[in-house]
Amino acid sequence: MNILFLDQSGKLGGAQLCLLDIVKLYHDRSLVCLLADGSFRELLEQHQIPVQVLTTESIQVRKESTFLQGLSSLKQLLPLIGCVARLSRDYDLIYANTQKALVIGAIASFLSRRPLVYHLHDIVSPEHFSAINRRLIITLANRFASLVIANSEASQKAFSDAGGRVELTEVVYNGFTPESYSHHQAEALQLRQTLQLDRQFVVGHFSRLSPWKGQHVLIEALKHCSEDVTALLVGDALFGEQAYVQQLHDQVAELGLENRIRFMGFRSDIPQLMTACDLVAHTSTAPEPFGRVIVEAMLCSRPVVAAQEGGAVELVHHDKTGWLCPPNDPQRLAEIIMNCRNHPQQANAIAQQAQQEASQRFHLEAINQQIAQLLAAIVH
Ligand code: UDP
Ligand code: GLC
Repeated sequence: MNILFLDQSGKLGGAQLCLLDIVKLYHDRSLVCLLADGSFRELLEQHQIPVQVLTTESIQVRKESTFLQGLSSLKQLLPLIGCVARLSRDYDLIYANTQKALVIGAIASFLSRRPLVYHLHDIVSPEHFSAINRRLIITLANRFASLVIANSEASQKAFSDAGGRVELTEVVYNGFTPESYSHHQAEALQLRQTLQLDRQFVVGHFSRLSPWKGQHVLIEALKHCSEDVTALLVGDALFGEQAYVQQLHDQVAELGLENRIRFMGFRSDIPQLMTACDLVAHTSTAPEPFGRVIVEAMLCSRPVVAAQEGGAVELVHHDKTGWLCPPNDPQRLAEIIMNCRNHPQQANAIAQQAQQEASQRFHLEAINQQIAQLLAAIVH
């Protein structure tokens, strides 16, 4: 099957890392079109995947855009739609990854009469999207998509609650190669030494810096933990959240936590860094659509605490494969951190159980097979 993949971002977020693993399956028969240049293009090229950047201008549609802002971006979108429609005539289907790609892919699929698959990585709710954008997503998906792949039941439910046709949807979790996350103990030890963390209890947070990812909640929680608890904040502001980055630095200074919080920036050695942690914390304050970092921590055999909302609830079974914490509750988060620190054997047993479960439930091979079957059913 020949697929024209379409993605909005040049940056490396979870939706792009998920797409990369799907694209690899079809790399010799496919093209990935990007609506922005960046490190995602470089990564695709490293994997010998044909990629084309369709525009160097940034598209002005944002998750919180108003109707007028959306309308004014039409001028930018029309040539892109034409271009994707032309390109897609050489492919069996258009695979739109996330929202801007849906807008362009939907109309292009109508023009070229190619089926459209929409991979939904978001929770279509007021917390994440403006009213006009919710309406746009639902209308385009309902009218033009042959299949909507939702990255969790939570994303599927939000889509349906917002008016999306549930019969179009299939839930497919992100897939992972468990081998990539194991056997990093030696490098992890080295990292702990280099970072002078030998005697610390290290809590890792692996997310882009963004208000809803809730790094501030972990910083606040540290105030209630013993002095040996240190946090690594791994990730960068990918979508211009500089004010939030400043806010985090101010918060650290105000609480006098400079020695216990490290800002690590964007890293490519996630399995090594996760293995170097004693606990991985996920602290999103709005429902997380899926939460790759939660599964990655499990695959690294690291105990994980996740915010109890959205897709995270489908990934972690409280007290069995990790812990769930009410979102935005630093006090409760601190209790869970201290409990994990004070009961290492219990934490280790939970992490081992999680590793086994995650290796089965989220194995890339099985997930890719599921996707291949769904796509085959659309292209006759
Ligand atoms: N990640 C990374 N480097 C970083 C921080 C995060 O490669 O410095 C990866 C992380 O391992 C995960 C992805 O980025 O695979 C984030 O995906 P997730 O689903 O957790 O959140 P998203 O940012 O997509 O909402
Ligand atoms: C999006 C979501 C994240 C999810 C990822 C992959 O970026 O925010 O929760 O894990 O897509 O599906």
